[in-house]
Amino acid sequence: KPPFIITVDGPAASGKGTIANRLGALYGVPVLDSGLLYRAVGVLTRRAGKDLDSEQDAGGVAMTLTAAMLDDPEFRTRGAGECASRVAVHSAVRLALRELQLAFARTPQGAVLDGRDMGTVICPEAPAKLYVTATPEVRAERRWKQLKGQGEEVSLADVLEDIRRRDERDGSRADSPMVAAADAVLLDTTEMTIEQATDAARRTVEAAR
Ligand code: C5P
Repeated sequence: KPPFIITVDGPAASGKGTIANRLGALYGVPVLDSGLLYRAVGVLTRRAGKDLDSEQDAGGVAMTLTAAMLDDPEFRTRGAGECASRVAVHSAVRLALRELQLAFARTPQGAVLDGRDMGTVICPEAPAKLYVTATPEVRAERRWKQLKGQGEEVSLADVLEDIRRRDERDGSRADSPMVAAADAVLLDTTEMTIEQATDAARRTVEAAR
């Protein structure tokens, strides 16, 4: 029997990260935050003084990335999300990160994969797929509160603009755009609490098990 893989895709601050972590805890399986890989490549490319929009520069950094390099608080900042989305358009970056992601999914016990293209590109054969959304306004408010909690000074309007720009870039890139898999269950969390969203996600997974 193949490992039970759950994919959780969707835009920034839709609630997918929280849902993925709760499902992972519930089923006792590891959770891959694939966005962190792109954040790391973005920040490390910038830190090396290289060009985020150069496929060669960012791809070179992506090839050197290892799991041991992921523990850095800067990867969680607002600027890192923007850097991530810029390097994520490059096929060389996506290809370099692919093997890290596949290695993570190759576990006997199963896994939860959180990202943009988990159900479409990285693990299209996954038996349980969720696509989590919410309105840009609600997502901006959630992200704004989170950033404030981390001590980042930023206006709600600026966070909303970030979110719209990132949605547009992630949804329109040629390689692995952010899109719901045909067989994903859509979960709109706009009017849901974390508990309600997690419960709905759990029911979807139970139905696929
Ligand atoms: O999920 P998170 O907001 O941390 O992702 C940061 C960025 O990384 C996204 O905006 C997207 O451009 C990129 N990303 C991606 N594919 C993934 C996960 C993240 O392109 N599977």
